Amino acid sequence: MGDLFSDKLELNGVAVCAGALDRPAQEQMVKDLRLLAGNAPFRQYQTPGGRKMSVRMSAAGALGWVTDRSGYRYDPHQPDGRDWPEIPEGVLAVWRRFSGVNRIPDSCLVNFYGKGAKMGMHQDRDEADTKWPVVSISLGDDALFRVGSAEPRGPTKSVWLKSGDVAVLSGEGRMVYHGIDRIRFGSSDLLPDGGRLNVTLRVAG
Ligand code: SIN
Ligand code: FE2
Repeated sequence: MGDLFSDKLELNGVAVCAGALDRPAQEQMVKDLRLLAGNAPFRQYQTPGGRKMSVRMSAAGALGWVTDRSGYRYDPHQPDGRDWPEIPEGVLAVWRRFSGVNRIPDSCLVNFYGKGAKMGMHQDRDEADTKWPVVSISLGDDALFRVGSAEPRGPTKSVWLKSGDVAVLSGEGRMVYHGIDRIRFGSSDLLPDGGRLNVTLRVAG
């Protein structure tokens, strides 16, 4: 991590930087993400197995992560054929501050968790080269983040991610299994209607 950060916690190689973004920075990012969603609407994707994901997803950058019956993948186009919008500058600034690498990310996934949404344990493994880190920004309601090891059924540790926290999956933490067990709906007033936004930055292509 390229940043000296005081409130840093380590979970099986995943660094969690609590309070990385102050309230004005969080509010600006929400504004940027609203603009982004105007050009790339949140969509509810299906897994390859045919289940609807509870998280709604948008994206920005050269490549957006999508899933449907034909599989998980990075796609240069939205499902409606449009290009993805550009990654907002404020989001790129978080990558520069926390990624520890000089490469610029080409993919920004935006997840929206409404009431009851969660994400099962998984590895981030759809990227062409998984040596590059994943930088993850939490906005809005608290989320229970579970982190395991690089083995599918290893022991896990959990932490509540709060609005403004940044997590970095790099080095030995890059391929660990992780997921969101649940959110505390309405725990933050950042998003007027509640819920949680999670922004993840990657070098995907
Ligand atoms: C993810 O693993 O893609 C999302 C993690 C999160 O929502 O914090
Ligand atoms: Fe992930």
